[in-house]
Amino acid sequence: MSSLLHRRIASLTAKTLWLAPLAGVTDSVFRSICKTWGADVVVSEMISADGLVYSYNKSIEYARFTADQRPFGMQLFGSESSMMRQGAQLLLAQKPDFLDVNMGCPVKKVIKRGAGSALMQTPQRAMEIVSALEPVVHEMALPLSVKFRAGWDGNSINAVEFACQMEAAGADILCLHPRTRSQMFGGKSDWQLITEVKKAVSIPVIGNGDIASVADALEMFETTGCDGVMIGRAAWGNPWLFAEIKAAMQGEEIPEISYGERFNTVRNHFLTAFQHYPRKRAVHEMRTHFARYSRGLRGGASFRAKINSSDKPEEVLHFIEELYNEQA
Ligand SMILES: Cc1cc2nc3c(=O)[nH]c(=O)nc-3n(C[C@H](O)[C@H](O)[C@H](O)COP(=O)(O)O)c2cc1C
Repeated sequence: MSSLLHRRIASLTAKTLWLAPLAGVTDSVFRSICKTWGADVVVSEMISADGLVYSYNKSIEYARFTADQRPFGMQLFGSESSMMRQGAQLLLAQKPDFLDVNMGCPVKKVIKRGAGSALMQTPQRAMEIVSALEPVVHEMALPLSVKFRAGWDGNSINAVEFACQMEAAGADILCLHPRTRSQMFGGKSDWQLITEVKKAVSIPVIGNGDIASVADALEMFETTGCDGVMIGRAAWGNPWLFAEIKAAMQGEEIPEISYGERFNTVRNHFLTAFQHYPRKRAVHEMRTHFARYSRGLRGGASFRAKINSSDKPEEVLHFIEELYNEQA
């Protein structure tokens, strides 16, 4: 392994905080917001290898990023190694900092094509994919990571064996969301599996699943020995969580994020969305974020009703201002 690749892997996994890929949520705009608040590593939403090959212009949109997001990984999904290789080459031309392979998506549309978490049922095929990608990614001295689950269902938990197979095939970093495919996003993730995977492989392991607070993040680091933690749903509407965890990890007092700062973040998120999307799309994309940002806030329900029936950016900005003024 080249020393450059080694350094790159180390910088992604030195007790780092990762923003999880969340399709439909962690677009370029939100990733930048999370970086501002302390996410160390961000990953694109899942990008289809077939999509890249057959409808490039549409799929490559998901790979758009801005320099402030580095280190930035692009996540590829698919089920066929030569298609994955072509897809990877198209993504690598965009100059990400690493490539991630999705072997955890539980969604029907994806698994019926043998991709995402379906690959945990066909480990040979999963190994073929990683073996096919490894030379392409390593040629550029970039790390290759694999994100996977506990297994297909409760009767076929194979995360540890699968992790060893991915390492043997050439993966540099593993990221485990220890739920089975059958669990989808329900039930609880089994952090014990992160501990077991970490013990079984010699490459870095990123732990993921159900981190909802500073205490959860610290606990995952401590109990599993993982090299980084990945946070998804809890950061949605709450990017400040990264700053809180960072402070706690450095032994500092957990910062109190004022409503003024929160307002500035939300406003900035909204305004940046307009640079990224056409006007109407920006307003619509922001609605799910607003729903999250306003959770638990005084006047949140009426704020949501108002923004959901307005297409006018100036009006929406006014509603955001009103909401945060109400908290003061
Ligand atoms: C709306 C949504 C979209 C997701 N999209 C992706 C995706 O594109 N790629 C991926 O690997 N995982 C995806 N996931 C799974 C998350 O990355 C993560 O593994 C999971 O949510 C568990 O972490 P959390 O408890 O911190 O949210 C998605 C999850 C959700 C809820």
